[in-house]
Amino acid sequence: MATTRMDLDQNQLPEGEEKSRAVREMFDRIAPRYDLVNRIMTFRLDVRWRKKTVRALSLPSGATVIDLACGTGDFCVELEKAGMISLGFDFSFGMLQASRSFSPLTQADVLQLPIKANSIDGVTCGFALRNLTELPVFFEEVARVLKPGGRIGFLDVAEPENRLLNWGHHLYFDRIVPKVGALFSDKSAYSYLPRSFSYLPPYPEIINMIDQAGFGQVQRKLFAPGSAQLFSGEKI
Ligand SMILES: C[S@@+](CC[C@H](N)C(=O)[O-])C[C@H]1O[C@@H](n2cnc3c(N)ncnc32)[C@H](O)[C@@H]1O
Repeated sequence: MATTRMDLDQNQLPEGEEKSRAVREMFDRIAPRYDLVNRIMTFRLDVRWRKKTVRALSLPSGATVIDLACGTGDFCVELEKAGMISLGFDFSFGMLQASRSFSPLTQADVLQLPIKANSIDGVTCGFALRNLTELPVFFEEVARVLKPGGRIGFLDVAEPENRLLNWGHHLYFDRIVPKVGALFSDKSAYSYLPRSFSYLPPYPEIINMIDQAGFGQVQRKLFAPGSAQLFSGEKI
C-alpha cells in the first residue's frame, strides 16, 4: 500500500512497516529545519539534556559510543566534545545529510545494526524510542553490540507528573508546538509530535524491557521541567 503524508495525520497512528516508512519520509522532509525547530520548541533545553545524558554514561574519553537514530547528529557533537569516538546511525538520509557533526554517519535501521557483537563501549539514543516499531528488538540489538559493562543513555520525551505542569505541557505541545512547526517547517509533522507520545509505553514497562534485554542498574531520571526522561544502565 502506498504511504502518503496523511498516514501520520490520521487519528489512528500507523504501526509496523507502515509506521517505519511514514516516520522515515517525515524526517527526510523536515530535516533541513529540524535543528532550528528543536531549539525553538525546547528553548534549547534539548542541548542541556543531551549533555547530561553524555555525562551520565560515565565513560572515559576515547570510549567508542554509537548514537542510534542519530538524526542530524546532535548527540555525536556532544560525544565528540567529551573526547569520545562517536558513530551515528539513522535510516533517514535527509537527516544524515543535514548533520553538522564530524562523526562518521551510516544510513541503517537501528533494529539491525551493521556492527559486530560485543564491540562497543556505549550507546546513546535521543528522542527516537517512540519512533521505533519494536522496542524490545531495539534493546536486544543494543545489548548484542555492547561489550559487557557497556553503558546506555536513552533520552526521550516525558510528561510532567505535577498536574499543573502536565496541563501546561499539553497546552504547549498540543496547541503551540504545531503552530511553531507550521511557521518554520511542516505543520503535519509537528502535529504528529504530541500524538507520537502515545507510542511510548509507561516508564516501568520500558525499564522492564531494558532489564529483560540483559541490562543491570537500569534507572530512569526526569529532567526539569519533567518533559524529558533518561534511561541509563549497564550491559550485564
Ligand atoms: C526525533 S528524531 C531524533 C534525532 C536525534 N537523535 C536527536 O536527538 O535530535 C528521530 C530519529 O529517529 C530516526 N529513526 C526512527 N526509526 C529508526 C530506525 N528504525 N532506524 C534508524 N533510524 C530511525 C528518524 O529517522 C529520526 O532521525
